[in-house]
Amino acid sequence: MIYLDNNATTRIHPEVLSAMLPWLTDQYANPSSVHQFGQEARQAIEAARYQLAALAGCRISEVIFTSGGTEADNAAITGIAAGAPPERRTIVTSAVEHSAVRETLAGLARLGWNIIEIPVDISGHLNMRMLEEALGEHKTALVTIMWANNETGVVFDVAAIGHLARQHGAVFHTDAVQAAGKTPLRFSDMPIDLLSISGHKFHGPKGTGALIVRRGNKWRPFIRGGPQERDRRGGTENVAGIVGMGRAAAMAVQRMEHSDDNARIAGLRDHLEQGILGAIPDSHINGDATARIMNTANIGFDRLEAEAILILLSQHEICASAGAACSSGSLEPSHVLRAMHIPERTAHGAIRFSLSHFTTSQEIDAVLRVMPEIIQRLRKALPAI
Ligand SMILES: Cc1ncc(COP(=O)(O)O)c(C=O)c1O
Repeated sequence: MIYLDNNATTRIHPEVLSAMLPWLTDQYANPSSVHQFGQEARQAIEAARYQLAALAGCRISEVIFTSGGTEADNAAITGIAAGAPPERRTIVTSAVEHSAVRETLAGLARLGWNIIEIPVDISGHLNMRMLEEALGEHKTALVTIMWANNETGVVFDVAAIGHLARQHGAVFHTDAVQAAGKTPLRFSDMPIDLLSISGHKFHGPKGTGALIVRRGNKWRPFIRGGPQERDRRGGTENVAGIVGMGRAAAMAVQRMEHSDDNARIAGLRDHLEQGILGAIPDSHINGDATARIMNTANIGFDRLEAEAILILLSQHEICASAGAACSSGSLEPSHVLRAMHIPERTAHGAIRFSLSHFTTSQEIDAVLRVMPEIIQRLRKALPAI
């Protein structure tokens, strides 16, 4: 099988799994228990917190473990809204956020919050002028805008967005789920107040994540219960998951700082794109080819439906995706491609290939061998125009 759906989820790294296993078997104590057995689990969690802080470039005390990126996004937005002053009832976001952000904001809109969506252009870039205007016109509690887009890989200028937010007295949250492990985050040096991470996007286990909350922030806890995570997230910790995500974070830092594997992946992605665009007429890259995370290619094939392409790819044991994983199976182009005003004839046939550290050049060559034939076969079946 050739797995090119790594923005949906990644394969758990064997080292991550081995690090987790003791905490799923013999080391089952509750980290809140005072006995030695419990304290060993506590220490394992604190070691993972250190590893997450290194990945995010933040202080150890700023890391709050969550059940994933979705919870981190919900907690960031709801927690800032809960502590916002009554005169600041606006939240500014982009038109291309993940549903974890979009749906949380839709819930707040129903409660009377004013939600402003900033558009993007055809390359996926945010309209910074409109962002500035929105912040000038509305007393804004929160700006929530992602770091890297899950469908196109396009990276936003989070430093510039954060500076604008600060100038206007707004808190800035960024969903860095698709950026973590692929680009240095350097939270402490950035004008970012809250940042979301998900473990399963960088070879950690599913159901793990973290919300980084800058010290001194007016954020209020989202999940209440026991005093875990220093009263910031109730609930007995997922010790094995946290340990696994910690190990995955440490491995990602190691790769970014001491290997050129990210450059290798970028090279494979570019080879895939050039190979496809060179061999297949009426195929296009969706999103700015220069300002993207290194592992993502979103390619539109005119006049085709993505589902048909995915089925034929699957027959060759190649896994890719049509836009966001959750929108696969629906025939509607994704909200991201719509927001970019990608023409309908291209957007319907958009395939996302997302690579990982396990991707090899042989796999990319295998995809390049079958792709032209797949597209030709589907186009032949189309009614003549
Ligand atoms: C940009 C982005 N945000 C949030 C999420 C949700 O993360 P999780 O699957 O850990 O809940 C995803 C997952 O696809 C994502 O790509």
